[in-house]
Amino acid sequence: MQVKINTRAEKADMQDLFGIFFEDLNHAADGGLYAELIQNRAFEFCSVDNPDYHGLTAWEKIEKGGKTELRVETEHGLFPENPHYLVMEILKEGEDTGVCNHGFHPGIFYEKGACYNFSCYARKERGDCDRLVISLRSRTGDIYTSQAIDITDKWEKYQLTFRAPFDDRQGRLAVTAKGSGCVELDFVSLFPAHTYKNRKNGLRRDLVQLLEEMHPKFLRFPGGCLVHGGSLHAGDRDSLYRWKNTIGPVENRPSCRNNWGYNQTMGLGYYEYFLLCEDLGAKPVPVLPGGYNPHTHEAAVGDELKEYIQDALDLIEFANGDAESYWGSRRAAMGHPEPFHMEYIGIGNEEVGEPFFERYPLFHRALREKYPEIKVIGTSGPFAAGKEYDRGWQSAREVGADLVDEHYYQAPEWFITNHHRYDAFPENGPKVFLGEYASQDNTWFHALAEASYMVGMQNAAHAVKMACYAPLFCHVHYENWRPDMIWLDNCTAVPSPSYHVQKLFMNHHGDVVLAQEISEKGPSVMMSRYPDSLPGDIVLEANESRVAFENIVITEEDTEKQYTCRGTVLSSERSREKITSVDSRNYTIRLHARELSGKKGFTISFGQQDEKNHVFW
Ligand code: AHR
Repeated sequence: MQVKINTRAEKADMQDLFGIFFEDLNHAADGGLYAELIQNRAFEFCSVDNPDYHGLTAWEKIEKGGKTELRVETEHGLFPENPHYLVMEILKEGEDTGVCNHGFHPGIFYEKGACYNFSCYARKERGDCDRLVISLRSRTGDIYTSQAIDITDKWEKYQLTFRAPFDDRQGRLAVTAKGSGCVELDFVSLFPAHTYKNRKNGLRRDLVQLLEEMHPKFLRFPGGCLVHGGSLHAGDRDSLYRWKNTIGPVENRPSCRNNWGYNQTMGLGYYEYFLLCEDLGAKPVPVLPGGYNPHTHEAAVGDELKEYIQDALDLIEFANGDAESYWGSRRAAMGHPEPFHMEYIGIGNEEVGEPFFERYPLFHRALREKYPEIKVIGTSGPFAAGKEYDRGWQSAREVGADLVDEHYYQAPEWFITNHHRYDAFPENGPKVFLGEYASQDNTWFHALAEASYMVGMQNAAHAVKMACYAPLFCHVHYENWRPDMIWLDNCTAVPSPSYHVQKLFMNHHGDVVLAQEISEKGPSVMMSRYPDSLPGDIVLEANESRVAFENIVITEEDTEKQYTCRGTVLSSERSREKITSVDSRNYTIRLHARELSGKKGFTISFGQQDEKNHVFW
């Protein structure tokens, strides 16, 4: 096969092509990326969030030798946005009387020698129980370490730091009382001190590191259905996702039902998302609800709809406004006077249906008028929606959306067959933002089908401007959706083969696609140029899984120089096995980058790695 390229003929730019998408499903935020170790820290869980929840979910009483009663009340609450608190009544003082939290299943992960920051609000309501003992414990109640705090009859915040003397994957945090009487507790929190960048209210370091290593060009957040699932009214317990509820002190962020059937504390909120984008060097791509719930078909009207539009406008001021502007000053007060340089905003997620198509233009025009520099992303809904999908594109074209967000989850064969799907998409008009896609499992074969498809998207960079795999994270004990890119539990994370494919493409992300001619039909290849490389540096990628390119001759049009490449993409039968648990250590990708006649190219070997780092097939 002969491949002719002209290193000076730029076919299309592809600067922001491959990014990531974070959605709080599968406990990706609480219990996942957000490093809080206590579940139901503010006693706000209720049956609206999940029929099995109640105010004491994840809490248990301790009454060794004594008698304790627990209940959740609101009468003396400190925070109107999160009014519930725990009443701990010590009816009879015993050896050990109080309450303990078991964190996220199967328990709190303590690492020997690591430090943990505890905080809580507490007051004595009556009696002589002025001293509380905070302890890190085992599941069976063995106390690893403890410290005491003296409380008064006024709500006050208390903070302590612990060092864990043992490893434990099923740890507990306990608050016990000395004396008898009644104690009130709220916002009982425990974070590892070593969060990412050691930030307070921070994120899990190992998980952010995995994202960092990908070098994504953008981060779409805070979700798909998460954004548009729920009631339309801002104050409701199950309200649609409203970004203004997710900033400021965590105590003032109303915790809320999550579309995926659990409680979201909003501890990971918009400010933290923007910070994460900045840390990753990824452009923020927030998605806001369009005032319409496609599951219930409720649609906002009048002032309520105006509020949704205003939310979108205010978000841009929050991200980009100077520190003197109202929302810019809110950002500055949280510690970030510099703007976040937001360039994109998404309105709606899969909201097919006339009520959305009527509302989207109102958002679009308001945003265009005030912020013409911001690229507005509409939605076509899932590809599988057929006519509605076409209607979504039509509506986005009519109003002049910059990009259209389309989604699909398909069989690997579909991705391979549809390799050229976007070739004929028009260059003019709204561009494609493939905001969610995945082939339907986590085997190597599925990842390779995705890799093939990504090559196709690069080749169609005239029409496809952004694409991100979905979903990103899944906590193995709280699965809502599969496949997922990274599987995790409380202490480990296992990236799937799809993660490695995504990372590979992002780590070799070109800035333009070069014109090319391929002499014969066969596996498609794709050339792009590194943004910061010398002219003529080339990346060669392949779209088929079991293929060995033995003698690809690349001829540089302008110099007539020829380079022979030997690129190999292999997979083994074993690749069809699934990753079923986070303990599976079998699957590791080894990538060998090498120089080819002074030009950059790479061989991609997908293999298994044993303990001694030997790759075998
Ligand atoms: O990625 C999982 C879900 O799939 C998203 O929430 C939704 O947009 C899509 O249907």
